[in-house]
Amino acid sequence: MIIKVDKLAQKIKSKIISLKDKNLKLVSVALEPDKATLAYLHSQEKLSKKLNIKYELKIATSKTELIKTIENLNNDESVNGIFLSQPLPFEPYEVLQYIDPKKDIEGITPYNLGNLIYGKSYFKPCTADSVVRILNNFTNLDGKNVAVIGRSVIVGLPVSIMLSNKENNATVTICHSHTKDLKNITLNSDIIVVATGIPEFLKKDMVRKNSIIIDVGINIKNGHIVGDVESDVKDIAYVTEVPGGVGEITSLILFENLIKVKL
Ligand SMILES: NC(=O)c1ccc[n+]([C@@H]2O[C@H](COP(=O)([O-])OP(=O)(O)OC[C@H]3O[C@@H](n4cnc5c(N)ncnc54)[C@H](OP(=O)(O)O)[C@@H]3O)[C@@H](O)[C@H]2O)c1
Repeated sequence: MIIKVDKLAQKIKSKIISLKDKNLKLVSVALEPDKATLAYLHSQEKLSKKLNIKYELKIATSKTELIKTIENLNNDESVNGIFLSQPLPFEPYEVLQYIDPKKDIEGITPYNLGNLIYGKSYFKPCTADSVVRILNNFTNLDGKNVAVIGRSVIVGLPVSIMLSNKENNATVTICHSHTKDLKNITLNSDIIVVATGIPEFLKKDMVRKNSIIIDVGINIKNGHIVGDVESDVKDIAYVTEVPGGVGEITSLILFENLIKVKL
């Protein structure tokens, strides 16, 4: 059983189109991107064109150049949003801290993530926001038991904070590579959010019948994009698609945030 996100995607697209300002500009910065990263950045460029938003990609060859590029973009009034491509070969914090929080449309600078804990963030982290919106569109989260597998700063942790806040009222168990008896936790969960980056990590025998699974993973296996959930899990549970699903909504939220910069 598939959790479709088409209607949610269309709703966000319509909002972007109705509010868009022709002078909006997004700049993505990357450090020596690999093929998969470049493919993602090109899809971002294509979506910008569709939404009539100016787009530029800047590629740096060192951390120092990356920081310098970000500082220049912070001071460039023609740039509304900055997207930092990941993964990076060092702690992203070392660079993220330089992005002007007002241009941080990904919502992952220390300032915006700090405000998230207070429930005051202007830009919510877009992947986490995508997960929460898909869930809210599909079910009532109040009182549900959720297992979040993964505790990264950009996905697992903000998802856990957002799901357990007073808007959503879910009860969250954060799982990671040191978690003991993960299967026992997932089998006792109404909802599972999987963000491990391990292809087909979540297996059918780890999942309760009719549970809700949000697959955040985007992995390449044998030349194909696969998620963190094995394909037969959808025989017994409701699962988001990869590609599509979380990734599709995340990309749109990025542009929704870009428009917010100008409001
Ligand atoms: N759809 C989107 O828009 C979107 C956006 C961002 C990322 N992604 C994808 O989401 C996935 C996760 O990304 P990320 O940046 O969060 O990855 P990450 O930083 O590598 O974090 C992976 C997490 O998984 C945990 N983990 C690894 N092995 C485990 C195991 N055996 N049992 C339980 N937990 C385990 C790790 O635990 P430890 O902390 O103990 O190491 C870590 O917390 C990737 O496939 C990425 O491409 C998708």
